[in-house]
Amino acid sequence: MTATDDEATPRKRVRIRHFARAKAEGIKIVGLTSYDMLTAKIFDDAGVDFLLVGDSAGNNVLGFDSTLPVTVDELIPLTRAVATSVTRALVVADMPFGSYEEGPEQALGTAMRFMKETHAHAVKLEGGVRSAEQISRIVEAGIPVMAHVGFTPQSEHGLGGHLIQGRGAEADRVIADALACQEAGAFAVVLEMVPASLAERITSTLTIPTISVGAGPHTDGQLLVWTDWAGLTTGRIPRFVKQYAQLAKTLHDAAVAFRADVESGAYPGPEHSFED
Ligand code: KIV
Repeated sequence: MTATDDEATPRKRVRIRHFARAKAEGIKIVGLTSYDMLTAKIFDDAGVDFLLVGDSAGNNVLGFDSTLPVTVDELIPLTRAVATSVTRALVVADMPFGSYEEGPEQALGTAMRFMKETHAHAVKLEGGVRSAEQISRIVEAGIPVMAHVGFTPQSEHGLGGHLIQGRGAEADRVIADALACQEAGAFAVVLEMVPASLAERITSTLTIPTISVGAGPHTDGQLLVWTDWAGLTTGRIPRFVKQYAQLAKTLHDAAVAFRADVESGAYPGPEHSFED
């Protein structure tokens, strides 16, 4: 989707109908994660169509080694910071592990908290067939749902690790999951770590847009975790990530230069000091 560069034309907020239109017109949808005000403003200004306040905050902000420990209470302030900082991007609140699996009423309660307390525009939850009732219940209440199938990080132990999903005979299961999300009323579905040919098949079968996270080029949109994409993550980066910056190196070099300046007395100079 193209954000207008014409300053005289107010930028229209992205809504779920723009996702549907983008699919119909073959226009790619662009998403990044964001967990704070500053990156939200930068990515929104750059025309990124949607920002996911992912439970990947667990590994990227909160200091956990997976998404599993993340709670609703931890994600609410992050989501609010992002949602109140954008003027165009659609903000999606990720529902963390344990906040919807008990059933449709628990799922609706969590989705309502995110909508009331954060100003997000939609919620996301993981699972296809197994989450269909939850998706329907939330959508019936007027809350847009982005679904998430294929590799679902909240189930990493059940899935046996970070493994590609839907290879060979497993493809039918991923297709059934994606169809279940569409039937339940999701406005879009994230396909994570599935073979590109399967993502292409799902994209041509579904009427709702598909968003790839490591699912190849044939989907209706692409989403990446911003800290991986910008080279801020220092650990292992998934193969499907293209890095557009090297922020960890930039910040490391800046910190080394600052330390040297403080130690040598080069900082602060007169221009950084106040006179009487
Ligand atoms: O939390 C997250 O960042 C996600 C994406 C990887 C889809 O769920």
